[in-house]
Formats: sequence, structure tokens, C-alpha cells
Amino acid sequence: MSKKSLVAYFSASGVTKRAASLLAKAANADLFEIQPKEPYTRADLDWTNKRSRSSLEMTGFASRPEIKNRVENLSDYDVVFLGFPIWWYTAPTIIKTFLEAHDFSGKEIVLFATSGGSGLGRTESALAPCAPNAVFKGGKLLNGASEASLKSWVESLKG
Ligand SMILES: Cc1cc2nc3c(=O)[nH]c(=O)nc-3n(C[C@H](O)[C@H](O)[C@H](O)COP(=O)(O)O)c2cc1C
Repeated sequence: MSKKSLVAYFSASGVTKRAASLLAKAANADLFEIQPKEPYTRADLDWTNKRSRSSLEMTGFASRPEIKNRVENLSDYDVVFLGFPIWWYTAPTIIKTFLEAHDFSGKEIVLFATSGGSGLGRTESALAPCAPNAVFKGGKLLNGASEASLKSWVESLKG
């Protein structure tokens, strides 16, 4: 039986959302948007301001922005593609909130991101403690990825 996949993503300004939709098509997966309880405003996203919401979250080790919604049927899935924009060379802390709000035991998590150019860096080791019994597999920056390239990536992860 083939594995059932979910694409779960957070996107503050729409770029990761577009990549997630393409990936869900390529992987024949369901799609879930991780929504913050309090949406991010443009001012919140200002990385040039040390006091902006995103700056404060990304410098606070214990920061866990609240989420509005959970995946109620996570047990239906074997593989979760988890996507986000790169913030300060890593994942936004809301991704930690999302991981800690679910039980990923025995599931494969495949990270993906969009960015202004930075790679995933050490994102996996930063997130792994938040899903201690998950199996992290692969991970890819999807800046400008085509549906065809996503399909071959998804194929390469099988087996
Ligand atoms: C607070 C903040 C920090 C960011 N830090 C980085 C970074 O370290 N490296 C990078 O290449 N891009 C960085 N970016 C750019 C985003 O990763 C990029 O625009 C992304 O595609 C946005 O995705 P979204 O539209 O799904 O939110 C940052 C953006 C924001 C708002």
C-alpha cells in the first residue's frame, strides 16, 4: 500500500503557500495551512527592526507563537512534508509550536522551505527535539521549483 502524505506549511507572505500547493499536487498529498492565532502584519515581519514581533520571536529560545488550528487526523498520514519560510537562517518558531502540538511518533517528516537565498542550514537539528520520535528525512529548498522537479524529488524519497 502506498504511503499517505500531508503537506503542512506556514507562510507569512504567500511564497511558501504557492510552493506547498505545487508540492501537494506533485506528491498527491493533502494540504494543511498552519495558521497563527494572531496573523503577522507587515510590521511584525520587519527584520530590520530588532523589536519587531518576528525579531523578538527568533531571538527568544522559548518562543512558541500560538497556532489557530491542529491536524485532527494526523494518524491518517505516514509522511508529513513540513514547509516554512526561512527566518534568520532557520524555521520560524511557530513550526516548533506546530510540532509540539502533535504526536509525530513513527512518522516521516520531510522539511521544505522558501527563502531569499539561504539554505535549510541546521534547521533539522533545531526542530528534531520538538518531534522526538519522528524520522526526519531529506529536506529541500523549493525556491522557484517546478512541478516536474518536485515530482522527481518526491519519487527520490520513496522506498
Ligand atoms: C523575519 C524574516 C526573516 C528572514 N530571514 C531570512 C534569512 O535568514 N535568509 C533568507 O534567505 N531569507 C530570509 N527571509 C526571507 C523569506 O525567507 C522569504 O521571503 C520567503 O520566501 C517568504 O515566504 P512566505 O511568503 O511563505 O512567508 C526572511 C523573511 C522574514 C520576514
